[in-house]
Amino acid sequence: MHSAFAVFLLLLVAANSSGLPVAVIGATGKLGRHAVQKLVQQGCSVRCLVRCAPSSAAKPSNAQNATSAEVAAWLTTLPGVELVEGDVTDRQCVMELLRGCSACLALHGARRTTKLSDLLPWVDATREPAHAKQVNYEGVRHVIEAARASGTCKRIVRVTGKGETPWSIFSILINGLGSMAKAWNYEGERLLRACDDIDYTIVRPGYMGQVDAQLEGASLVLADNGGDLKVSGIPHSSVAQLCVRCLDFPNAARSTLCAMTAPKGQGADSFDPLLAEVAADTRRFAGGELFKRHVLAVRVGGLVMSGFAVGFVGGSVSVLRAALAMLTR
Ligand SMILES: NC(=O)c1ccc[n+]([C@@H]2O[C@H](COP(=O)([O-])OP(=O)(O)OC[C@H]3O[C@@H](n4cnc5c(N)ncnc54)[C@H](OP(=O)(O)O)[C@@H]3O)[C@@H](O)[C@H]2O)c1
Repeated sequence: MHSAFAVFLLLLVAANSSGLPVAVIGATGKLGRHAVQKLVQQGCSVRCLVRCAPSSAAKPSNAQNATSAEVAAWLTTLPGVELVEGDVTDRQCVMELLRGCSACLALHGARRTTKLSDLLPWVDATREPAHAKQVNYEGVRHVIEAARASGTCKRIVRVTGKGETPWSIFSILINGLGSMAKAWNYEGERLLRACDDIDYTIVRPGYMGQVDAQLEGASLVLADNGGDLKVSGIPHSSVAQLCVRCLDFPNAARSTLCAMTAPKGQGADSFDPLLAEVAADTRRFAGGELFKRHVLAVRVGGLVMSGFAVGFVGGSVSVLRAALAMLTR
């Protein structure tokens, strides 16, 4: 049964018309592994950037709790999938990855959490390779440069998130705890929108929850032109489908798409009919001033939360004191 399925997939790979591989960055992630699987099912060959080589000790697995090494080992079992070991912060690795590719899915994202030492005025945490500036911003710059150098890679699909509302509680928390990940993702978007020689599709999904969750009782909705939609949960597999399918829609080039779910009946069951309707960006997006607003929001949010924490601790101490006084009376 398994070998028959593998032969079927190999036939699809052979039938892939462009013949050029699609590069995937973040392939070991919860989103990336679904995207690779969908590309393979479509008959594409895939070249994945992975940060850890699949050791013989790693058991191939694409389970939600699998380690990156286990997912890398699983990727090697898929037909037409090739691994390139490296990091998106290493320009040369990205150059090698994109050589001869037709498109790149940049599905990576910084995993660094903010450290207390980041607050010290003499520390520049943004230089750390794992910092969101390096991964979500400089990494995107490397992808653009590598796409240009390749001469073959004409489309970059980048997954970011809603990033134009610095004062929302989600933005403050993600930026405050995650090394300004949202703010740097938006800066990466700006690099892409500034390219006039490479097409981009920016995907801003809602909260991607359970990796295997299906679209039960829900449907898919899409807004183009950087439009806003109410935040909702959306399965990784649905977002992966969008990232892969948009490659077949020329009208999705140079577009910023927000992808969410809505109650059944209010959207579509697949992204294809929604993608057929999208158009390239025309609105004026915020410039560098948005980053400053993200920084200000985190500072104010941090102060407010610290104030609440101090008030809460102070209140708790007073209550404890009063209780002790009553007990010892
Ligand atoms: N989860 C959500 O709800 C949500 C919502 C909106 C947007 N997003 C965006 O979508 C992205 C993908 O989501 P996810 O759930 O798949 O995240 P994930 O499971 O944390 O995957 C992140 C991927 O990025 C890779 N990566 C991190 N730093 C890298 C680097 N320096 N070079 C190369 N690869 C690097 C990781 O590699 P390793 O396996 O080696 O660590 C992993 O493959 C997120 O990072 C975020 O930016 C997520």
